[in-house]
Amino acid sequence: MKKYEIAVIPGDGIGKEVVPVSLKVLETVAEVHGGLKFEFQSFPWSSEYYIEHGKMMPEDGLKTLKNFESIFLGAIGNPALVPDHISLWGLLIKIRREFEQSINIRPAKYFKGLKSPLVNPNDFDLIVVRENSEGEYSEVGGRIHKGEDELAIQNAVFTKKGTERAMRYAFELAKKRRGHVTSATKSNGIFHSMPFWDEVFNVVKKEYQDVQTASYHIDALAAFFVTRPQIFDVIVASNLFGDILTDIGGAIMGSIGIAPAANINLNGKYPSMFEPVHGSAPDIVGKGIANPIGQIWTAKMMLDHFGEEELGKKLLDVIEDVTNDGIKTPDIGGTSSTEEVGDEICRRLKKAV
Ligand code: NAI
Ligand code: MG
Repeated sequence: MKKYEIAVIPGDGIGKEVVPVSLKVLETVAEVHGGLKFEFQSFPWSSEYYIEHGKMMPEDGLKTLKNFESIFLGAIGNPALVPDHISLWGLLIKIRREFEQSINIRPAKYFKGLKSPLVNPNDFDLIVVRENSEGEYSEVGGRIHKGEDELAIQNAVFTKKGTERAMRYAFELAKKRRGHVTSATKSNGIFHSMPFWDEVFNVVKKEYQDVQTASYHIDALAAFFVTRPQIFDVIVASNLFGDILTDIGGAIMGSIGIAPAANINLNGKYPSMFEPVHGSAPDIVGKGIANPIGQIWTAKMMLDHFGEEELGKKLLDVIEDVTNDGIKTPDIGGTSSTEEVGDEICRRLKKAV
């Protein structure tokens, strides 16, 4: 019996609604598999916790989390109780940084039963590998003077290690998919870092002769996400470029409620973290209509991460069948509740064996 210990942080708002439904789905996956067991330990760290304790998690929170196989997170943020920069930096961003989750992966695919804003979605199925620890999002730089002479300098940091790490991850992923990697560059306009990015890409790609490659400037690449997303398999991008591209990825799928993300730790020293792209959605909290698919799809990514890819694929197929049959929440044009969608996924998982 394979056993996975998972730390669960439902967090705020609809996180507390979509996480329990997703755990039920994971329990069902384990039951159907027979040789697999999940042990969940839930932590109440959230904005409400902050109001009670003056911090988002206990001092030794990270030490506690470190012992788990992975972290399954809902959403953080309740601006009515705690300012967003405090809640996000006090928990989510802290975990990403301290646990060296240097890669952020975000898939986007044409989803049966969903209305894509694209006229002809052409069955796109892509995944963005975003460098998650450096690049444009650095604290290097500063501001001086006030008034007319005021000046701000923001440096981007690209290390050979960090760049290679993201690219190798993309190539390894492509080998398991359709064998194609696209590099997001801008070496025609950015003088130092992007020619460096291209150089590293050209070296790394030599190690993967069986993988096809392409390189596009980020502006053209962003346009292609809209006009012909079907040409992409894996895209490797810097922190900022990846951030922007994945919002377009979510948009062409049709709803933020279904988009998943994974923060991957590659050195094995710390757990990885799985979360949906969406936030705590205060506007629909308590109504029972939050779409659980983003959270359930991130559970699928966790299964992949554990090496249970076959199970992951089965789960995604079932989610898509359920959506295609119209059992869906109002954000994607249905009338079902969060629980109804979850229960139907569980029912079909059992049938799929
Ligand atoms: P949001 O993603 O929570 O909501 C944006 C819109 O999408 C809302 O209209 C919401 O109802 C809808 N929506 C989101 N998820 C949905 C779902 N699963 N089903 C149906 N509809 C869904 O973003 P917003 O409103 O900007 O932020 C709300 C709070 O969440 C803030 O405190 C923010 O800081 C936090 N946040 C946290 C994130 C995280 O924990 N990773 C990511 C984004 C925002
Ligand atoms: Mg973003």
